[in-house]
Amino acid sequence: MLKIALSKGRILDDTLPLLATADIVPRDNPETSRKLILDTNHEDVKLVLIRASDVPTYVEYGAADIGVAGKDVLMEYDSDDLYEPLDLKIAQCRLMVAGRENTPLPPHGRLRIATKYTKTTQRYYAQQGIQVEVIKLYGSMELAPLVGLADFIVDLVETGNTLRANGLVELEQIARISSRLVVNKAAMKIKYQQIKHLISQLQQAVAQKTV
Ligand code: ATP
Ligand code: PRP
Repeated sequence: MLKIALSKGRILDDTLPLLATADIVPRDNPETSRKLILDTNHEDVKLVLIRASDVPTYVEYGAADIGVAGKDVLMEYDSDDLYEPLDLKIAQCRLMVAGRENTPLPPHGRLRIATKYTKTTQRYYAQQGIQVEVIKLYGSMELAPLVGLADFIVDLVETGNTLRANGLVELEQIARISSRLVVNKAAMKIKYQQIKHLISQLQQAVAQKTV
């Protein structure tokens, strides 16, 4: 049995065509089904639907053998216990520091940064020897500089429309983001042939798409 963890929304939308190229097709429509474990056209392959930020946890603990997760989520999860064999080149965006143009430096000294990526943000500033106060948010980060909660935000940017609509600008790029295939280390050993075959088929599907 091979369990593949995916999250609903853009990752599922972009991964299903790649899986279809690898001849893996769910039996029910994942966007409308309320099921969390979906059968596929292969008796021994199931899709497990979970939140994007939970994918690394399920895969690390072996509750799923394979998963698809954004590099942003993987940087924040920060584990050495996952294999990351393939860049699927989907859900592409960038992790940015953003804020108002010409934000004055805070009189209190330490910059305040609002983000859902607290570990990644701490690490980014620590590498530059800058002490910051990181404020954890779960969404709508763009609001924080507008209402005086934070000086800057760290968030994903694709088109830049959300920033523009809120009068914010991109300031520094922390990382380029795309979704990666992640594999449980024990599963890689025990189910080597099946997983190797899937990785190579997905690799071809990605290559075909990017030609
Ligand atoms: P959770 O439900 O765990 O909070 P989420 O709501 O961030 O996750 P999605 O919005 O589906 O989940 O995002 C999944 C992944 O897609 C992100 O981890 C990121 O890698 C990528 N992503 C997010 N926003 C964009 C965007 N605007 N453009 C392209 N890719 C994006
Ligand atoms: C993401 C991200 C930004 C937005 C950036 O949110 O958190 O708000 O996309 O995209 P843009 O540069 O193209 O405007 P998303 O749309 O995924 O909503 P979410 O807050 O539900 O994750």
